[in-house]
Amino acid sequence: MTGGPLVLGIETSCDETGVGIVRGQILLADAVASSVEEHARFGGVVPEVASRAHLEAMVPTIERACREAGVRLDDLDAIAVTAGPGLAGALLVGVAAAKSLAVALGKPLYGVNHLAAHVAVDIVEHGLLAEPTIALLVSGGHSSLLLVPDVTHDVRSLGSTIDDAAGEAFDKVARVLGLPFPGGPHVDRVATEGNSAFVAFPRGLTSGKDMARHRYDFSFSGLKTSVARWVEARERAGEPVPVADVAASFQEAVVDVLTRKAVLACQEHGVDHLLIGGGVAANTRLRAMAQQRCDAAGILLRMPRPGLCTDNGAMVAALGAQMVSKGRSASALDLPADSSMPVTLVQA
Ligand code: KG4
Ligand code: ZN
Repeated sequence: MTGGPLVLGIETSCDETGVGIVRGQILLADAVASSVEEHARFGGVVPEVASRAHLEAMVPTIERACREAGVRLDDLDAIAVTAGPGLAGALLVGVAAAKSLAVALGKPLYGVNHLAAHVAVDIVEHGLLAEPTIALLVSGGHSSLLLVPDVTHDVRSLGSTIDDAAGEAFDKVARVLGLPFPGGPHVDRVATEGNSAFVAFPRGLTSGKDMARHRYDFSFSGLKTSVARWVEARERAGEPVPVADVAASFQEAVVDVLTRKAVLACQEHGVDHLLIGGGVAANTRLRAMAQQRCDAAGILLRMPRPGLCTDNGAMVAALGAQMVSKGRSASALDLPADSSMPVTLVQA
């Protein structure tokens, strides 16, 4: 095992069929096939369509990853797969593929948590994680603040969204503004031309009373409604909607709350390392404001490059490689796909 265990990771929790190969902390391949275009006309991911797309893309994507990495399946030390959370049917395709590989090759199988994998992926870019680290995980399905003493088996939840996930809010607001699905990257792009102080949208769960009850929780549903009402009022009055300004003002409200609570969590837990992961961590404004606030607070900030923030197989391989390196036991071959796997359960 020169350079650490060679692990292939499979990710199928949503609409990306991801197959990554990692040796220890080194990323060798990151092959992704996305069915996003098949969902665009529905304005959201259609589970059945996603599952079928995984089934078709799985073997070609595994082959592509092996070619990219220059390895043969026989060379692998272990297989890792997202066991949850995610779309049930989509997860089943990845888990079934991973079990088949593990049995055929006689290699150990690690069923891992998608959210822990979003955190672990940064290892292939910036090296081993500080222990503990605080992680802000923001994606289309989840928004959580985590205390992570050990990403391979000890992840603790400090707070999470009580309604919409951050990415979901981006996608819904994008739709209100007439931008394509998935909306996050489009809001990010048009917001660069806008004035973020144009509308003072609400900052959810930041008032004194809310901070007492929901210190590290998030809420984006009120913000989303507030943007929709603002746009409707404008349209009713027959006035043009300043899309860039609204996008920038909305984005500012989301990013302000996310970074404020993440820095607070670091300070109140005496942890000077923050990691931001998940699809929304690709957001330009989030990255800039997080850097600024962490610098001011003396916190060391780590963020994977945007391409590794959205769903991919490399993140699953990265977490699998850590599990093998730390001597964690493999999962049982009858491991389930758990669509609502709790964030605190790292391995199935
Ligand atoms: O982690 P991810 O790829 O899938 C889930 O596990 O959910 O996250 C997808 C989410 C989508 O809601 C998408 O709009 C959002 O991440 N996203 C962004 C950006 N890139 C992706 N949101 C804001 N700014 C971006 N640049
Ligand atoms: Zn994700």
